[in-house]
Amino acid sequence: MLWESLSGSFVKRFFVTLTTIIPEAEEQAPEKVLYNHACATLSELDMEVVRNVPPGGNWMDLPAATVAKSARLTQIKKSGGRTTYYGRLNEEMPSYTVNTYFNRPGNGTFIHPKQNRLISMREAARLQSFPDHYRFRGSVSSRYKQIGNAVPPLLARSIGIKIRKGLTIDLFCGAGGLSEGLEQAGHTIILASDSNPNMCETYRSNNPKTKVIQTDINKSEDADILLENIQSKLRGRSLKLLAGGPPCQGFSTAGKWNPNDVRNLLLFKTLDFVRVLEPEYVLLENVPGIRSMQKGKLFESFITSLEAEGYKTQIYLLKAEQFGVPQRRRRVFIVANRNGTFIKDPDVRLSSIVRGKTRYDAHISGDGLPPPVTVSEAISDLPAIASGEGHEVVEYVTEWLNSDYQRLMRGMISFKDFFGKRTEQG
Ligand SMILES: C[S@@+](CC[C@H](N)C(=O)[O-])C[C@H]1O[C@@H](n2cnc3c(N)ncnc32)[C@H](O)[C@@H]1O
Repeated sequence: MLWESLSGSFVKRFFVTLTTIIPEAEEQAPEKVLYNHACATLSELDMEVVRNVPPGGNWMDLPAATVAKSARLTQIKKSGGRTTYYGRLNEEMPSYTVNTYFNRPGNGTFIHPKQNRLISMREAARLQSFPDHYRFRGSVSSRYKQIGNAVPPLLARSIGIKIRKGLTIDLFCGAGGLSEGLEQAGHTIILASDSNPNMCETYRSNNPKTKVIQTDINKSEDADILLENIQSKLRGRSLKLLAGGPPCQGFSTAGKWNPNDVRNLLLFKTLDFVRVLEPEYVLLENVPGIRSMQKGKLFESFITSLEAEGYKTQIYLLKAEQFGVPQRRRRVFIVANRNGTFIKDPDVRLSSIVRGKTRYDAHISGDGLPPPVTVSEAISDLPAIASGEGHEVVEYVTEWLNSDYQRLMRGMISFKDFFGKRTEQG
């Protein structure tokens, strides 16, 4: 079968001949280096699954003999399961949502479009629009979370552009996707915080000018210390923007909804910071499910509280692929300001993907805008690796470049040029 030809030793040989592993001590100029291009190891059964799923396919394409070997697959086949499960990416379309489980084939569409393996951390980062200089650190399991939980920087950038620039803080900063996009839009992040040490490590190493504080915002003593740190960083200057992406596990449609999840309440904790710091703008990101939690009451109550503090709020449900992200990802943004201005909608640059009755009917909307960025445009330049292999730091050869998106991710063209060229090409 076709997929067999790309497996194991062939890929390994191809990889070894094309790339040079760079010892950490000899790190080179960033334009020559590729970080985090390593993928998860799979069991024999998962490898059998991977080999049998064609591009754009999923668990429905598996032969009965393979399904019979797995209790989960047997269950899914019997009672139905999401059509994204055990999916292989279609290189002609944007990817499906990159979540935190792209180290497993059964929790989404994470099989490489051409090679018999899951996508690497770098490939997932590309699908999330993190520039290639952005390196993920900390434990391997945390890196999957860092990448999957992040706001795609290109999406954050598109909103950041609409907000007046100034001093900014990022609560629940994670690996820093939201901050990265805001920085790209011209904001200055003076302080970021997160409770997780791995997240803080990645954030700190990529944002050496920003003060990073590891804090559990649920603990009032920690929250007080954080506030003191923010105030000392501000030195009497006013805070332009308080940004953050409070944890969304409680609201996510990917997992079971749990109205009592204590992490939901972290959204409300941000109000304490708003009250004391009185930022001119507030920007919060979350999953669409937040709006229907407790029949919409939770969201409504949050917005009412924000408005009671004197903020005018606007809500956006954005489709990441319309802002240059090569991924179907829907996210809600609350943008609030207390200067009474109306914040203009983020500029939609590319077409969206419209769902059909089945996943095979999904198509690009005919709205006259240039097409969204595809998986192939996002990752086709990255060297082949075998399943379970890859390297933290390898040499990148610019002759491999195949698309303007890849040039953008490698910092070789500007955002203006990228979107300008895409519009010209139509
Ligand atoms: C959705 S992620 C944020 C992603 C981030 N905005 C980005 O774009 O990369 C939520 C973050 O909240 C952090 N978090 C969870 N509970 C927390 C707490 N009690 N205090 C502070 N941070 C917390 C998690 O460690 C996680 O990094």
